[in-house]
Amino acid sequence: MSNTIQIIDLPSGDRGKFSTDSLNSPTLPSRYYTDNNIYDDELKKVHQRAWNYTGHVTDVVERGSYFTDTVAGQPIVIVKGQDDIIRAFFNVCAHRGHELLTGKGKLKGKGIVCPYHAWFYKTDGTLQRARLTEHIKDFDTSEYSLREISIAFSAGLIFVNLDKDCEPFDKSMSGFGPSLQKYLPNIENFVAAHRLSYDINANWKVVVDNFSEAYHIPIAHPQLAKVLEQEAADIMLEDRWTFNGFRSRTGFEGLELEPGLPYCAWQAWPNICMLSLPGSENLIVLRMSPNGVGKCSERVDVYTPKGDAENDPKLLAVRDLFMNMFNQEDIAIVESVQRGLSSLGYDQGRYICDAEQSWFTEAQLHWLHMQVLEALAKD
Ligand code: FES
Ligand SMILES: [Fe+2]
Repeated sequence: MSNTIQIIDLPSGDRGKFSTDSLNSPTLPSRYYTDNNIYDDELKKVHQRAWNYTGHVTDVVERGSYFTDTVAGQPIVIVKGQDDIIRAFFNVCAHRGHELLTGKGKLKGKGIVCPYHAWFYKTDGTLQRARLTEHIKDFDTSEYSLREISIAFSAGLIFVNLDKDCEPFDKSMSGFGPSLQKYLPNIENFVAAHRLSYDINANWKVVVDNFSEAYHIPIAHPQLAKVLEQEAADIMLEDRWTFNGFRSRTGFEGLELEPGLPYCAWQAWPNICMLSLPGSENLIVLRMSPNGVGKCSERVDVYTPKGDAENDPKLLAVRDLFMNMFNQEDIAIVESVQRGLSSLGYDQGRYICDAEQSWFTEAQLHWLHMQVLEALAKD
């Protein structure tokens, strides 16, 4: 792991005895999961400054196709322009603030028409026509373009950053796309076969924390444990993303796996967890969007090669296993942890880490929490 994270600015008392050494550090104090002020601060300093995953280039193949999303509490829209460029905008009209588009689809004409007073924007965001404004003094349409948002593409996945002064995506994420492509060479052509969302009664970090460690798997997911060789084959901890490579076992009904197939897990700062389960070509992306201090909305996108989704029995088995079993087990866990974090009987626990980075390590929780503290320490 490159050691560039600096959390020295935060008064040590504010973070308990949390330290930069995962082997000797207690966990993040519980108020980081329950305090409204910390939550508000996180929304601004973590989520509204991070590169947030929002979709895939195959969601916007044709000119004029678009999808809307809410990122870090902000409504946004992604649209493929008449010039074939995919752009992101705040989904808000420059006149009086009405939302411009809903859901996903294809623009009816060559631009975006606000449903309130019909201002018309080109797909590059410039305001082309505003009704009955000829007599308006000093009204210059060029001052009323849509507010564009920084966008980046990595292995077909689309990321956006709401911060106009954000650091370039490649500065900290350059190895991420190649890592995905190493295991899923066709990922740029994958399509979203399923998209689901779950409202979870837990802070977004509880859900990401839970995804970040395999320590709980043999206990909480006895069926998943049958599929997974416990020894991790490969672990990477970069500044803004991580990779955990495991291997499959045989003997899970429905999957009929060969032993030793890759079982991959990626994580991207701050709230993205990804899995590629063995037995078929798939990428499951989970995004934990903050939705109040003790709540988050988990979006699950299942990507597969086009046409495979409904036909490949192994893929259907993967989907059902994940949706109906592992994820349900995890939701029950994280909601219980959130209740526990609010208890007067708990504040800080302990990261279970070892110098060898064994399969059960909780080093990735520590990695995440270091970055949260670092982000909060900034102005
Ligand atoms: S708010 Fe969009 S045209 Fe008036
Ligand atoms: Fe789990």
